[in-house]
Amino acid sequence: MSFTFLFAFLAIFAATCHAVVGPGKVTGDTAVHDPTMCKDDSGTYWVFSTGVGLEIRKSTDRIAWTRVGLVWPNGAPWTDQFTGTSNGALWAPDCTIINGEFNLFYAASSFGSQTSGIFLAKSSTGLPGSWTNEGLITSTSPSNNFNAIDPNLIIDNGKWFMSLGSFWTGIKLMNLNPATGHLSSNSVTALAQRTANNGAIEASVIFKNGKYFYLFTSWDNCCQGVNSTYNIRVGRSTSVAGPYVDSAGVNLTDGGGTLVLASHDKIIGPGGQDLLMDVDGPILVYHYYTATGSFLGINRLDFSSGWPVVV
Ligand SMILES: *[C@@H]1O[C@H](CO)[C@@H](O)[C@H](O)[C@H]1NC(C)=O
Ligand SMILES: *[C@@H]1O[C@H](CO)[C@@H](O)[C@H](O)[C@H]1NC(C)=O
Repeated sequence: MSFTFLFAFLAIFAATCHAVVGPGKVTGDTAVHDPTMCKDDSGTYWVFSTGVGLEIRKSTDRIAWTRVGLVWPNGAPWTDQFTGTSNGALWAPDCTIINGEFNLFYAASSFGSQTSGIFLAKSSTGLPGSWTNEGLITSTSPSNNFNAIDPNLIIDNGKWFMSLGSFWTGIKLMNLNPATGHLSSNSVTALAQRTANNGAIEASVIFKNGKYFYLFTSWDNCCQGVNSTYNIRVGRSTSVAGPYVDSAGVNLTDGGGTLVLASHDKIIGPGGQDLLMDVDGPILVYHYYTATGSFLGINRLDFSSGWPVVV
């Protein structure tokens, strides 16, 4: 066996191993969509996800999950003007615990509509019925060129930023007041945009690791069962406001995005992701489809090359 052949064999073997990475080890009630994960000061893990009233799940070990109820068990009528219905599903929450307080941003909209709003809820326990409505953070209408869904809070040196966006002109960044969680200015910075596949990019998350901010997005289409084509992409920047480039140096505002995780084996359309720094390193949290629904996936990420690799 020549060295070249051995190397090629090892490369194929490594690529094959990478391709068969499963959705981590998760058990219990994991039927989620657009999950976000928080870890509280006692070490309990919380997953919030899309649904009427926003779903809450807990785990003590990040493996076994139990559904504990809803953020809004009595409905959220303030979102009706954006969902276009009474007590419609609320989308893609984003959890951050700050000084023991849960900060949960979430969106209200309907499929294919720019009539969308992002709201903030807070709680000291995370439990159903404990949440206060902190009101509307920002909204869009068909007169905007972007769509106010899929919020994600990123804190950089005490400054708060919110990434958001879906289709249209892509992923944006806005400035928040840390004291209130509300907008501190109306400025909107472009972070990522595609023209391919109707500009299908959403579910942004910014994660700081080492000297880089990593902007993760979901490309292509969610929400079509086993026909879903979501895949997780990334770019990086030394500044939270960009410019972000992919591993080939292509600007994310020019359609760049390095693949992190796509459909493989029985795991269809992974996306709607969040990131968490845990004791065993950075964790990627996402949903994927099977023939019976959408489920929670959890994998560790290895950033040792400077780019995240699912392990
Ligand atoms: C997937 O696509 C096939 C072919 O178009 C269609 O028959 C099927 O209903 C779709 N399944 C879902 C869950 O959308
Ligand atoms: C990426 O795009 C931004 C905004 O258009 C621009 O300022 C920056 O120079 C571009 N960077 C690269 C590497 O092309």
